[in-house]
Amino acid sequence: MRAQAEHWRRDGLRIAVVPTMGSLHEGHLTLLRAARAAADLVVLTIFVNPTQFGPSEDLARYPRDEAGDLRKALPTGIDCAFCPDAASMYPPGAQTFVTVRELELPLCGQSRPGHFAGVATVVSKLFHLTRPHVAFFGEKDFQQLAVIRRMVRDLDFGIEIRGVAIVREPDGLAMSSRNAYLSAEERVQALALSRGLAAAAAAFAAGERAAEKLLAAALAPIAAAPLSRIDYVELRDAEELSPVEQVTRPVVLAMAVWVGKTRLLDNRVLRP
Ligand code: PAJ
Repeated sequence: MRAQAEHWRRDGLRIAVVPTMGSLHEGHLTLLRAARAAADLVVLTIFVNPTQFGPSEDLARYPRDEAGDLRKALPTGIDCAFCPDAASMYPPGAQTFVTVRELELPLCGQSRPGHFAGVATVVSKLFHLTRPHVAFFGEKDFQQLAVIRRMVRDLDFGIEIRGVAIVREPDGLAMSSRNAYLSAEERVQALALSRGLAAAAAAFAAGERAAEKLLAAALAPIAAAPLSRIDYVELRDAEELSPVEQVTRPVVLAMAVWVGKTRLLDNRVLRP
């Protein structure tokens, strides 16, 4: 992969990379189309990265469908799919990790300790292997995007990081590979997340700036969904991810909510 990428670079071609864990849906395809419009060569990476899963998480049952993924990705105009296996990405004795100290601690970092070190490490490796000029990530994983932006800045990767808005189902549910785990009843109750965000955004548009009130608006639909259990619902500074009491700068209302046995993420940026 690296030899090919170096070859493209020597020819003066601009490389875009879209890192994924496969099980592609319209959210991933939107990233690929954005990449297609921004570069000469689009590299899709598919790798279910073991180091970002905790011991009790869904690594073993994470949906995998490489043939289906390639079938979906090819019409977007990708030039290359890089699908390494775990043994070649992490040979025995691998012990070097990238940590983004502060940004990886709150929000998802609380319930998934080590998760973002796994993400930062694998994304570093994928960047070194694919040698991109530009890389695309979804705002759906808002903290992941913040972590990667900071890593790229702090470690001088010299890669442009572009965020892409959340792609949703027609009824508002943020698209996710994990939505496939939901039963019919859970799928209905999963709408509580996007409804909560919409309620908070409406309060914000009506002038509300107090975190407490905005969070209360977001929490109401979730409280009304009996199959849901909150991991976190928080209002944080959109760059530093620090807690916010009163909105004076762009903030992110970010949530992780269990619906049955599936943990779902959603967020919305509020700009005064
Ligand atoms: P994965 O969950 O497969 O997501 C790959 C990319 O697609 C991420 O940048 C994610 O934010 C984006 N994405 C997922 N659902 C989206 C949606 N509904 N709208 C917009 N973008 C969406 O995130 C990962 O994989 C991994 O952590 C990875 C970065 C590949 C490192 O292993």
